[in-house]
Amino acid sequence: MDNINNLIRKNIRSLTPYSSARDEYKSNQGIFLDANENPFGSLNRYPDPYQWRLKKILSIQNNVEIKNILIGNGSDEIIDLVQRVFCEPKEDKIIICPPTYGMYEVYANINNLEVISVPLTKNFQLNANEILKQNAKILYLCSPNNPTGNSLENLEYIIENFSGIVFLDEAYIDFSDTPSLVSKIKEYPNLIVSQTFSKARGLAAVRIGIAYANENIISVMNKVKPPYNVSELNQQAAMQSLADENNFKSNIQLIKSERELLKKSLLTLDFVKKIYPSDANFLLVKMENAIAIYNRLIEQQIITRNRSSVVENTIRITIGTPQENQQLINALQLVMS
Ligand SMILES: Cc1ncc(COP(=O)(O)O)c(C=O)c1O
Repeated sequence: MDNINNLIRKNIRSLTPYSSARDEYKSNQGIFLDANENPFGSLNRYPDPYQWRLKKILSIQNNVEIKNILIGNGSDEIIDLVQRVFCEPKEDKIIICPPTYGMYEVYANINNLEVISVPLTKNFQLNANEILKQNAKILYLCSPNNPTGNSLENLEYIIENFSGIVFLDEAYIDFSDTPSLVSKIKEYPNLIVSQTFSKARGLAAVRIGIAYANENIISVMNKVKPPYNVSELNQQAAMQSLADENNFKSNIQLIKSERELLKKSLLTLDFVKKIYPSDANFLLVKMENAIAIYNRLIEQQIITRNRSSVVENTIRITIGTPQENQQLINALQLVMS
């Protein structure tokens, strides 16, 4: 890919971004009468617009330079931001590979972009030939994929040969044995890898997403994002989580071992037809009469996700605590009897 700049929307290339008070005077020493804040209180100041302290920790832990990192208000914000940077409404197209995470398409509809669908194959893998025939600004890939749970193959071949931006959503990567492609942003100028604190870090309420990409892409995304997109409380919660890697790792181990236990228990039930391989913190389960079972679970106040509209007769089950998983199995046994 010669020049990423050519992919950026014209009005964004020439955009003069908002210059916040915190951009103009960066030190935290002094009497601050510049941002129309209230002088009283403990959360009275605007947060750091570029989240430098948080990025510094991420940079060290992931061996990525700060200039290659953008923090979003959840990765959903990043999915949208990328469309607004690269795609001209009513003109440009994005590619999705269903069944996959729904927000790529929802944002494309909001941003008035055409959506090209290149479904996954029977084994939930990418149809590389079909993808590479398309002309689109952004290709959204999700690995491990939601809702199928599997990791996608041939990613690098596609990134290398696709003529637009590849947005690789790694929301579930920490549950997978397949390595992240974050280190590949150096090699592929068209690659954006997104991750989130909502899954393995257990901070869905906090809303922290991360984009890793080439410096040009990050700097233009910084121009377009709202100046104070990540609150001070969110930044602090994210840094606290990064300070406790033991807790993070043991949590992941527990979820992964529960995933295997739940799989075994589910397979003892007559109406369970198939459990798809999962590298994530959920299982996609094919059942006889999945919708009826989904409803019977709700009657027992166990809420799963009915995915039958995207993969016939399936429900997606998030791995809960050991106790919750046992309650699910008890409830399913009751349904069976
Ligand atoms: C694949 C995928 N990407 C992104 C998200 C959204 O993540 P965030 O909470 O960081 O906005 C989800 C949430 O379920 C997801 O499944």
